[in-house]
Amino acid sequence: EGWERPDGGPFRQRLLVVANRLPVSAVRRGEETWSLEMSSGGLVSALLGVKEFEARWIGWAGVNVTDEPGQKALTKALAEKRCIPVFLDEEIVHQYYNGYCNNILWPLFHYLGLPQEDRLATTRSFQSQFAAYQKANQMFADVVSEHYEEGDVVWCHDYHLMFLPECLKRYDRKMKVGWFLHTPFPSSEIHRTLPSRSELLRAVLAADLVGFHTYDYARHFVSACTRILGLEGTPEGVEDQGRLTRVAAFPIGIDSDRFIRALELHDVQNNIKDLKERFTGRKVMLGVDRLDMIKGIPQKILAFEKFLEENAHWREKVVLLQIAVPTRTDVPEYQKLTSQVHEIVGRINGRFGTLTAVPIHHLDCSLNFPQLCALYAVTDVALVTSLRDGMNLVSYEFVACQDSKRGVLILSAAQSLGAGAILVNPWNITEVALAIGQALNMTAEEREKRHRHNFLHVTTHTAQEWAETFVSELNDTVVEAQQRIRE
Ligand code: G6P
Repeated sequence: EGWERPDGGPFRQRLLVVANRLPVSAVRRGEETWSLEMSSGGLVSALLGVKEFEARWIGWAGVNVTDEPGQKALTKALAEKRCIPVFLDEEIVHQYYNGYCNNILWPLFHYLGLPQEDRLATTRSFQSQFAAYQKANQMFADVVSEHYEEGDVVWCHDYHLMFLPECLKRYDRKMKVGWFLHTPFPSSEIHRTLPSRSELLRAVLAADLVGFHTYDYARHFVSACTRILGLEGTPEGVEDQGRLTRVAAFPIGIDSDRFIRALELHDVQNNIKDLKERFTGRKVMLGVDRLDMIKGIPQKILAFEKFLEENAHWREKVVLLQIAVPTRTDVPEYQKLTSQVHEIVGRINGRFGTLTAVPIHHLDCSLNFPQLCALYAVTDVALVTSLRDGMNLVSYEFVACQDSKRGVLILSAAQSLGAGAILVNPWNITEVALAIGQALNMTAEEREKRHRHNFLHVTTHTAQEWAETFVSELNDTVVEAQQRIRE
């Protein structure tokens, strides 16, 4: 319901977006009462900007609901947000999401090894986690098939759903299926170390179009297919007995207008005023990250400490606000990281704090949209220093909110904003500390020049454009494949 345009307006392609996590997470307030909260993460923030399609999201709402009245009520509440839930029970979540996705694939795709003591344990539990992963992917496919109509585009997202293209094509060979990875795809030498390396590649290759954020990730995927599966890599993609899976790069963006417009809102203006008053006389440095190993939060904070150590005159004139959004809190590695970060922040604040001020405000929370926009707008220097990231969108969001301030971006993964940012090696604390000094001392002309470059990029490479390009390429790929079969 709600799919047809009642006003008979222009045709909009039906798009089923399938991702592990829905853009909203559900919180139970009563037997049949649910409240919905915004989820965090790059994928959600990008896809919110996609408006060209008659789109529905299919995914997990982040809760375990086993009773029928609860499931029904949640399905109804989500329908208003154009979302369709996949109900995963606790055991599946434990094995598929915490286990295979977040403890195996996520670290592997970001080149982070498992700690030695976990490695053997993981090897033992691998088979059951992999089975749960396949089962969960089939559960997503079942929900897709309930809602699918001929001609729909089905767009599968991320490392959680690498089996989904295969499950969907088993259901209907003619279904238009795209798969997009929001993380890096590692070198084939890393992918090789995965027990299920071949099954995963084959399952993804069932898609018509496979997309990555960068050309390098696409290249890594193609070479994994040629080296591990022995298939043929072509400039177009991967060929298996005459069937082509198109592989290409589609760099993501944000809905920049949403941020620019938000700056005019009364709430945001008030927040900006409050923040300016609170930090009068100090330069504001900002980090916004999920509290994840790949985000390089401890390294960033240590670099800030080094800067304070070497630049005593800045100690009372600068503050670092680090928003660390809690994430995957049931996974032990994430719990360890939380205590590690708290320990470092406590030590530095003890060392450089005064009775009236501390150098680091570290918050374990997510901010709502008006708070976040205000914070971006008052920031002088943003520190986006992930150790490795698919495509970091915090840098884009910051730039979109900076048109009056023209703050400086310190960035570790060049990807697309390279020329406007100060680029750093996030592993090198000395280099990041120097970059902080350079950013704080940068002249207004230089800031203006760099900001112009970034702003132009962020406002022209948007999430809308990204999604349209992917979907139209997927439509074309399917048409071309049909022509080839006819020939
Ligand atoms: C990254 C992933 C997303 C994921 C997000 C948040 O951005 O690419 O697929 O949704 O992190 O992580 P979570 O595990 O909470 O969904």
